[in-house]
Amino acid sequence: MQNRNYTLITGASSGLGKEFAVRCAAMSMNVILIALPGGNMHSLADNLQQEYGVDVPVFEFDLTDTDRLKQQLTSIMAQYNINFLINNAGVGGTASITDTPLEKLDSIIQLNVRSTVLLTRLLIPHLLENKESYIMNIASMAAFMPIAYKTVYPASKAFISSFFLGLQEELSGTGLSVSVVYPGPIMTNSHTSRRIIGQGMKARMGLLPTTEIARIALRGTLAKYRVIIPGFMNRLNHKLMQLLPLSFKLRLVSREVKKEIQFI
Ligand SMILES: NC(=O)c1ccc[n+]([C@@H]2O[C@H](COP(=O)([O-])OP(=O)(O)OC[C@H]3O[C@@H](n4cnc5c(N)ncnc54)[C@H](OP(=O)(O)O)[C@@H]3O)[C@@H](O)[C@H]2O)c1
Repeated sequence: MQNRNYTLITGASSGLGKEFAVRCAAMSMNVILIALPGGNMHSLADNLQQEYGVDVPVFEFDLTDTDRLKQQLTSIMAQYNINFLINNAGVGGTASITDTPLEKLDSIIQLNVRSTVLLTRLLIPHLLENKESYIMNIASMAAFMPIAYKTVYPASKAFISSFFLGLQEELSGTGLSVSVVYPGPIMTNSHTSRRIIGQGMKARMGLLPTTEIARIALRGTLAKYRVIIPGFMNRLNHKLMQLLPLSFKLRLVSREVKKEIQFI
């Protein structure tokens, strides 16, 4: 019988989200792609449909527009049975706080925090109707500590980490499994790649290909792992960082991150 379940992926037009779309389709999952209008999602959907014989509906809208989010999600839930949500869409950046426009700060909070929480809340009752369902959330290694010149981004990812770890506990005993993924640096697009190269050797040590991160995150989520840190070097880095005093590691990491600014 044909699979009638769907995996909903936010930020599916590029980077890690696009890789999730390809991998899920290759695993015979139908995928619902969401990103801003004007990307290449329709051609991506056509390719996935042709290559893997799965259904790939596309929805182009701004996730930070709450009315639109509610309206689109209601319509999506009425048409498709979703048993897997991948909260991937997220933005960041590196600049001193006084060089960052208010709109930029607002867009990070709106997308990374607000829309992710609202979308998840809207979908939970629907996901719970399945015997088994999954939520994967893309946080970041940046969630583990504050970082100067990024400030709002790591704070937004710390929020995501805290929110979803709490949700995991609240939903334990149900068929809905919640996982949080903490990727290190990923060269997903030219802008991010320039920033990572700008940080030098230390940042590149934890670097993994986008395909590998998607593979590890999907495998871990479907195995119901609660916390997923892709890559041995990133897990080691996380363990070592826990041993250092906050003031020391804050200075150390922020000094490296500051080097990115000249490459932006
Ligand atoms: N790259 C890294 O080094 C790294 C490291 C750790 C964690 N992460 C996390 O991994 C996730 C994916 O990162 P990435 O580097 O793959 O990002 P990316 O290549 O910049 O892609 C971001 C995706 O989000 C979509 N998007 C942005 N704003 C949106 C909005 N307002 N409404 C709907 N969709 C929106 C984009 O759509 P359009 O293409 O249409 O704009 C795009 O599909 C993010 O949560 C990021 O924080 C990244």
